[in-house]
Amino acid sequence: MISDRSDLPHSAGLPLVLVVNGPNLNLLGTREPGTYGTETLADVEQRITVAATRLAVRTEFVQSNHEGVLIDAIHAARGRASGIIINAGAFTHTSVALRDAIAAVALPMVEVHLTNVHAREAFRHHSYLSDLAEAVIVGAGPLGYVFALELLAGRTAAHEATSA
Ligand code: DQA
Repeated sequence: MISDRSDLPHSAGLPLVLVVNGPNLNLLGTREPGTYGTETLADVEQRITVAATRLAVRTEFVQSNHEGVLIDAIHAARGRASGIIINAGAFTHTSVALRDAIAAVALPMVEVHLTNVHAREAFRHHSYLSDLAEAVIVGAGPLGYVFALELLAGRTAAHEATSA
């Protein structure tokens, strides 16, 4: 599912941040709520959209349970987006292909996990993405995405200021 919430005419020239969510994150709100909380993915995306307006960036959202769909969305961000926020879900711990896609597009990327993966099972401690990330935000719940957007928006603004 791909959705662009930046349909407001005045948002057209703003930098774009792609927000990628991986497998099972479509079930947020009902999936293990004791672990992942009660906010749905739509709630989380709404939070990000509100922050994007404040930070003067555009966002585009993709969620898929299929590795190839996520990889295609990351490829399509090349030349369009100025950064990527990704919660790859369980693919974080398994997918060399997703890592290669992130490396290939060479966009600033922030890795987000709702939970503190380091306080969970050992198989969640390793990420194939972390060493490519500008920052890794774990355990902050849905706010982690907002922190990530703050970081990427600030980076974009700093880049524009130095290249002006
Ligand atoms: C997650 C952590 C992963 O280990 C898990 O497979 C998920 C969600 C998180 O947001 O905390 O699906 O990425």
